[in-house]
Amino acid sequence: MGKKKIDKPSISTILYTEKGWNRLDETVGSNQYTSIFVLTDSNTKTDCLPLFDNHFQYAYTLLTMEAGETNKHLATCEDLWASLSDQGADRNSLLINLGGGVVTDLGGFVSCTYKRGIDFINIPTSLLAMVDASVGGKTGVDFQGLKNQIGIIKEPEFVVIDQVFLQTLPPDERRSGYAEMLKHGLIADADYFSMLSSNSIDINDQLTDHIRQSVSIKSQVVTEDPFEQGLRKILNYGHTLGHAIETHFLEHPTKDRLLHGEAIAIGMIMEAELSCRTTNLTVEERDQIKTVFSSIYDPVSFAESDVIAIKGLLRHDKKNQSNQVRFVLLQAIGKPVIDCLVSEEDINAAFQFYAD
Ligand SMILES: NC(=O)c1ccc[n+]([C@@H]2O[C@H](COP(=O)([O-])OP(=O)(O)OC[C@H]3O[C@@H](n4cnc5c(N)ncnc54)[C@H](O)[C@@H]3O)[C@@H](O)[C@H]2O)c1
Ligand SMILES: [Zn+2]
Repeated sequence: MGKKKIDKPSISTILYTEKGWNRLDETVGSNQYTSIFVLTDSNTKTDCLPLFDNHFQYAYTLLTMEAGETNKHLATCEDLWASLSDQGADRNSLLINLGGGVVTDLGGFVSCTYKRGIDFINIPTSLLAMVDASVGGKTGVDFQGLKNQIGIIKEPEFVVIDQVFLQTLPPDERRSGYAEMLKHGLIADADYFSMLSSNSIDINDQLTDHIRQSVSIKSQVVTEDPFEQGLRKILNYGHTLGHAIETHFLEHPTKDRLLHGEAIAIGMIMEAELSCRTTNLTVEERDQIKTVFSSIYDPVSFAESDVIAIKGLLRHDKKNQSNQVRFVLLQAIGKPVIDCLVSEEDINAAFQFYAD
């Protein structure tokens, strides 16, 4: 039997500012949707909806969810499915997701599943959602304490990116998104990494060209491998340890939560050490990676008990195959290697390297 051919879905169009708003206007004007819903969270309702209203002239019903990762679960979806149903949404309804990655992931999932799928459009309002969550069609929610366990890969109709929303984004959230941009440099483009790490760049300033470059790197990877059979795994650099660290801090009774980008920044430093030990990353590049992340993100300390718990969580990483934890590591900045195995001793050394 010949190998089954899988058609690659095309990646959604990503449109910036006026082009995006114009497309939204044209799409809604010409599609005769029976009803339009806009989903925000409690913060983007206050901070972003007024800006959205400046651009959107059609009647819509507002749906709002509580902000934050802890609400990215099925109970929130149920509330939203019920609201859609109560308000008579049918298969020709449209859902516009206006928010960070939680809103675009969860709103995307609600759209894909309500009546077997209605159209949705993403308008990301956080830096992380602009450069990462809204590109590539992954939708979903957390389940039983594990991130993104339930979900579907389906593209929105299109994505509108307008940096105007970033004006109200808290600085730590901005830094969180910036970690993903630095990751794009590390996995695909050494020059881009150098540019993002240079002292002349102000994270709080306009990042227009950089956002476009990050979106372009992620889009290229996802277009090549939409279902993560190979290349797409490179986007997980820093995430194997990063996710375990993020989950540990989330579940810990006394520790402050780490933002996603803060956790993966630690993961990227530690995985640079793993790369040095496993895939021949030079010591100079390893140290460069540590210096760059340490200049942006506050240090975090790990007690022996934290390290043990985090190593336990690694075993739950959903990218594991045959019970072995597989890492994306670097041969050099810009040159990733997928499916790498490391020893427990290497992981201990990675924690030590981070602490030193
Ligand atoms: N689908 C994917 O491929 C993908 C990729 C990366 C991350 N994600 C997911 O994205 C989520 C993280 O995204 P996030 O960091 O945007 O989280 P988030 O949606 O929780 O947003 C972060 C915080 O900023 C607030 N906020 C967002 N935009 C704002 C604005 N313009 N002004 C003021 N406040 C604003 C939110 O209300 C929230 O409190 C995670 O759930 C992660 O799993 C998905
Ligand atoms: Zn990430």
